[in-house]
Amino acid sequence: MPSRTRVVRVDPSHPDPTIIQGAAALLRAGQLVAFPTETVYGLGANAFDEQAIQRIFEAKERPESDPLIVHIVDIAQLDLVATDVPQVARDLTARFWPGPVTFVLRRSATIPPNVSARLDTVAVRMPEHPVAQAIVQAAGVPIAAPSANLFTRPSPTTAQHVIDDLDGRIALIVDGGPTTIGLESTIVSLVDQPPVVLRPGGVTLEALRVALPTVVFNPRYLTMDHVQAPAPGMLLKHYSPNADVLLFTGALDSILTQMYSTAHAVIETGKRVGILSPDEEQPVFADLPVVIALLGSRNDLETISARLFSGLRELDQQHVDVILVRGFERTGLGVAIWDRLLRATEGQVIDVDGRSSTSG
Ligand code: TXA
Ligand code: MG
Repeated sequence: MPSRTRVVRVDPSHPDPTIIQGAAALLRAGQLVAFPTETVYGLGANAFDEQAIQRIFEAKERPESDPLIVHIVDIAQLDLVATDVPQVARDLTARFWPGPVTFVLRRSATIPPNVSARLDTVAVRMPEHPVAQAIVQAAGVPIAAPSANLFTRPSPTTAQHVIDDLDGRIALIVDGGPTTIGLESTIVSLVDQPPVVLRPGGVTLEALRVALPTVVFNPRYLTMDHVQAPAPGMLLKHYSPNADVLLFTGALDSILTQMYSTAHAVIETGKRVGILSPDEEQPVFADLPVVIALLGSRNDLETISARLFSGLRELDQQHVDVILVRGFERTGLGVAIWDRLLRATEGQVIDVDGRSSTSG
């Protein structure tokens, strides 16, 4: 394992070819390189190199039961990674790639089993970010890349987040500035019938349904009433800051009243409170000694997505003990926001209107 991690800056739209070639050479040599995608930073390794893949699990401290996503840059690579690709996958990839959606297909024998946690399926995505595309292109091989965070930590949306988690564990971080979407890709399994959304993300369910009317998604994302994990690696504990996260839901006025009194009560016990707040709601907490991380305007789900993980990390760095946040509308990107908040809370949802405390 390398003892020093190099960090190099690139222009996100026109990355320096020399730097890209350097990153590609490391990947071909079996090393780990973190790079930006439009969703979050990924931790890349040559998808054909079983030992390099093993290093990803070690660097992230990720259980080997949690499969990785393979990134490609050219549609011709799809048939190197997957086999028995159905027509529906051809149609969907033509429509949504490059972009923030991952499809689960039958794994090709050329992809080592440890990429997929020994499943006979493989998750594949073609990223849209110019730096990710340039690196995968220059490497000349498909690149397996999970999010470049330590297991269970919020996914990284800046190079600094990657440094905070993985410094000294990987060869190189290509810094292309903050990622734009800020939440991971939508994952759709096309080996299940009907096709199923395993994780909501950058491509909305509404957009998917237009192209794939039969798609279903796991109701786990809208309620907490689940019994078993729907897919390997879809553990509830995920995206967790060190602090406890309390997620408030219900009518907005009641939420704000309740968040205020909860913040007050927690402060009374001597704990530090952080609030992940839309800009408009910050004044509610003005007379309390709380740390605020701003999410942008409450009607702007894109900005909220882009700031969610960095807000959680920011509050952690301020050593808060408890983070208070409210739910947002659950349409469009809001479904993915709700999913990540639910995971960050590990089940601590407070319904201020007094409905079931376990449903969203
Ligand atoms: O936006 C993204 O998807 C980012 C960027 C870097 O591309 N990547 C990412 O990867 O979020 P990761 O490893 O954090 O999430 C991969 C998840 C796994 O946890 C698992 O739930 C699902 O993808 N997955 C991967 N392979 C699968 C498979 N064969 N069957 C079912 N789910 C799979
Ligand atoms: Mg991840």
